[in-house]
Amino acid sequence: MAVLEINNFTFSYSQSTRPALRDINIKIDKGKFIGITGPTGAGKTTLACCLNGIIPHFYGGSVRGQIDLHGSSIFNRSAAQISRHVGSVFQDPESQIVSLDVEQEIAFGLENQACPPAEIEKRIAAALELAGISDLRRRATATLSGGQKQRVAVASALAMQPEILLLDEPTSELDPVGTEDIFQVLSRINKEHGITIIVIEQKTDQLAAHADRILVLNDGNLVMDGEPWQVFSRQEELDAIGVRIPQVTRLAGLLGGSDRYSLPLTVEQARIFVERLVRR
Ligand SMILES: Nc1ncnc2c1ncn2[C@@H]1O[C@H](COP(=O)(O)OP(=O)(O)O)[C@@H](O)[C@H]1O
Ligand SMILES: [Mg+2]
Repeated sequence: MAVLEINNFTFSYSQSTRPALRDINIKIDKGKFIGITGPTGAGKTTLACCLNGIIPHFYGGSVRGQIDLHGSSIFNRSAAQISRHVGSVFQDPESQIVSLDVEQEIAFGLENQACPPAEIEKRIAAALELAGISDLRRRATATLSGGQKQRVAVASALAMQPEILLLDEPTSELDPVGTEDIFQVLSRINKEHGITIIVIEQKTDQLAAHADRILVLNDGNLVMDGEPWQVFSRQEELDAIGVRIPQVTRLAGLLGGSDRYSLPLTVEQARIFVERLVRR
């Protein structure tokens, strides 16, 4: 069943004559792990803002087409209503943390929704557990690393029990270890709890390894939509628009890999691919 359906959707910012998104059609089924990539200026953040209600509630513009959440239009709902279904995590870990300590940070959204204290307590514990940061509960937010802050942001979003977790370049400020940690957390909440993940990311190595499906935006258009192997087999087109190809996939492409079985997306798959090649 589709949790989110975008139909013939076009959006232009108020001051702009050129659409930031053009005639977009995307249907996302419940429980999927979707990666969205594309060069800077492609419209990725604009799309994220359309899915969490920032557009049109905080940024105006002209909208054509439709976005449905569970079969009913997202544009008829307030940003607060949307946030019960779609939890958001942004690029900059600093800008989204508002509280002095971790526990208070996670309680913040729940208190705003007048959630009863016993329920808040339960949700904080569960969200910390899901984000793998139960040990950070009593820490001052100012003392956390960037990667820890992003996991607190993930936990805060999860505490609201959204069906969809939407992340806009959540690892852009993080080192490789922090990046992999975030993707491990996302994979776990996706697989174990069935939460639909939509992650915008330029680090395609991680997308290739974790996503079920990858969407590529370029210049406001949805130009590719498929399983990771399908998207990353189109190496010339990706090079032309400036989307990074995972290193192992590029190597395998040079060695003649081109389909679901011969185009590795992870180091482990590449090892098997090279072994087979050597045996032949
Ligand atoms: N608030 C805004 N007002 C006007 N134009 C904007 C605004 N935000 C983004 N844009 C324009 O919309 C296009 C898409 O931007 P964006 O969605 O931020 O792309 P991405 O996240 O893929 O880098 C760009 O041309 C950008 O200049
Ligand atoms: Mg962006």
